[in-house]
Amino acid sequence: MKVFINKRIPDIGIKMLEEAQLEVTIPKKDQLSHEEWLQYCQDTDAILSVGTDFKYDKEFFEQCPNVKAIALYSVGFDHVDVKEANQRHIPVGNTPDVLSKATSDVAFLLMQSVARRASYNFEKVKTGNWDDFDPLHALGQELYGKTLGIFGLGRIGFEMAKKSQKAFDMNIIYHNRHQNEEAEKELNAKYVSFDELIAESDVLSVHANFKPEQKELFNSSVFEKMKSNAIFVNTARGGFHHQEDLYDALVSGQIWGAGLDVTNPEPISENDLILELSNVCVLPHIGSATIEARNGMAKLAAENIIAFAKGEEMPHCANP
Ligand code: DGY
Repeated sequence: MKVFINKRIPDIGIKMLEEAQLEVTIPKKDQLSHEEWLQYCQDTDAILSVGTDFKYDKEFFEQCPNVKAIALYSVGFDHVDVKEANQRHIPVGNTPDVLSKATSDVAFLLMQSVARRASYNFEKVKTGNWDDFDPLHALGQELYGKTLGIFGLGRIGFEMAKKSQKAFDMNIIYHNRHQNEEAEKELNAKYVSFDELIAESDVLSVHANFKPEQKELFNSSVFEKMKSNAIFVNTARGGFHHQEDLYDALVSGQIWGAGLDVTNPEPISENDLILELSNVCVLPHIGSATIEARNGMAKLAAENIIAFAKGEEMPHCANP
């Protein structure tokens, strides 16, 4: 069976595929054009797909009828039309769990960086503007006992809530499709409506799986209902927030600050005005970028491909 991997992944995954006697193709070039990627996809049975740049939609499936399985090297699968894949009986694997700690670490890092104005202060140091001690300048806010609102309390949201509670004794409220009994029991998390979530959170952290109908859900009508001390954190997908509305909310002081590991659009333009704000910390989508998480993802993606090659169900599947 032929497996195409569009970008090199940690050796552990490639070794597993080779040991399973699969014919693995990895382009020498790191970044393929859309046409080059399509060409590789036309001549393969399965794809181990790295990144979210390439979309697996109806058009793709029509253009690449030989593709019988896709194993994503990501937990998110918003770049795949799962309904289309289902209709064609194409399993779509993903990589849950192994990146939950790493991604929630980044949400936690952004929350603290914004609360203590790390970007602003780092910029001052870099530009030779180390201020004398000033009782009134560069003051952050403490997170102890504050309310953390989680939008989408799945595995990553749970980890974020757990460490925030341990570190800062934060109260956890959440909004989700379903109530999360484990979080309610273990973290005393309280299920609230979306309106309550935005009105009561001191920190609002987005962790849901992105769906097209949630595009730019966090826009001016939401930011204007948030507290003026609120920190907005997004480590899920940039599509969740309206970036210009967020900029306006940050400039006008409607909210305190924002920590983004994902941007809208992605990658963000270096000229995006949001990057000039002192109450913002932006990272380039590095949620899962640890050795441990990336090895775990390679292993899971390889397991998914190998299971498919054996005619078994993928152990970690995004389609129902
Ligand atoms: C994921 O696994 O979904 C990460 O966001 C990388 O795309």
